[in-house]
Amino acid sequence: MINKDEILEALKKVFDPELGRSIVELGMVRDLHISDAGAVTFTLALTIPGCPMKTQMERDARMAVMTLPGITDVKITFGAMTEDEKKAIFAKGKPELPKLNKFNQVQKVIAVLSGKGGVGKSSVTAMLACELARSGKKVGILDADITGPSIPRLFGLPPGGLRGSDQGILPAVTSLGIKVVSINLMIPNEDAAVIWRGPMISGTIQQFWRDVLWGKLDVLLVDLPPGTSDAALTVMQTIPVNGVVLVSTPQELAGMVVRKADSMLKQLKMPVMAAVENMSYFVCPDCGKQHEIYGPSHIDALAKSVETDVTVRLPIDPDLAGLADTGKIETYSSVEISELIKKVGM
Ligand SMILES: Nc1ncnc2c1ncn2[C@@H]1O[C@H](COP(=O)(O)OP(=O)(O)OP(=O)(O)O)[C@@H](O)[C@H]1O
Ligand SMILES: [Mg+2]
Repeated sequence: MINKDEILEALKKVFDPELGRSIVELGMVRDLHISDAGAVTFTLALTIPGCPMKTQMERDARMAVMTLPGITDVKITFGAMTEDEKKAIFAKGKPELPKLNKFNQVQKVIAVLSGKGGVGKSSVTAMLACELARSGKKVGILDADITGPSIPRLFGLPPGGLRGSDQGILPAVTSLGIKVVSINLMIPNEDAAVIWRGPMISGTIQQFWRDVLWGKLDVLLVDLPPGTSDAALTVMQTIPVNGVVLVSTPQELAGMVVRKADSMLKQLKMPVMAAVENMSYFVCPDCGKQHEIYGPSHIDALAKSVETDVTVRLPIDPDLAGLADTGKIETYSSVEISELIKKVGM
């Protein structure tokens, strides 16, 4: 039978998204009780009664407890903290981000973000890594897309390729010397769907950051989960990201995407280093003319809205898609991406 300590241990992985600290550490979990039949009840004492993150925390807490063996039911009631308790919490300020493995020295962490899925985020992450590596930089890629990881496939890295050592997890290394960590390198086959919820994703990302022997890196690129939802937000709050490269395509409803990405970035006070419009045009192999297949470019409006000076338009390139599909992305060179790196000074 599961005991209270084990339940609290599981609940430690649930974070108050606003405060960035565990609900257990914050003293929010109260009156914890387990019945003989395995039904768990507890109170979540909130700092603000109408906390907008209430449902998310409840959902995450329920999931964390439900996954324990022998638990049949979870009932959560909401309570409120006293003024003094609140003061004590807010006096502590923002949490310290998890410390990096002492053998690691990472100069810059850059996350690649998009308004929606399938716009070429992973491809852009991989191209950035390749061009940086070719220019002599030490590069790592942290594949933070836990439920749809695609970085290993682009580089032709086989599943199960990560190894452990006393000092930490050893990343897989590509031909160009890019260090890669992804959930797909840990599971036995690529198709094993990972259906995890917020707290577990956050725990895994923390491990990828803290427990991996990245060594000395000039740049660590983080391939974020698609969109500006919880998952992407969780990652950005788990890793000390220095800046963001925003990827979009012309067919995205510019207004909506901009608003969502914008509000997330402003919420996080995150600078946008560059805006990339992928699949922006196609160069006809016969006549050499540029065609805007997905409609006119929105890159200038996007750049203005997210306050960046660096913009790049990438063509639709069947060669890129082919090489990406066959795990040979390292043989692809992008002049546009090289220019972006120079402009940003990565
Ligand atoms: N410029 C391009 N020209 C041609 N094909 C491209 C281009 N960019 C991306 N693709 C192709 O589009 C598909 C989606 O790209 P990718 O996986 O990089 O997107 P993503 O934003 O990471 O997707 P997800 O949201 O699923 O993580 C891939 O098959 C990729 O090869
Ligand atoms: Mg992707």
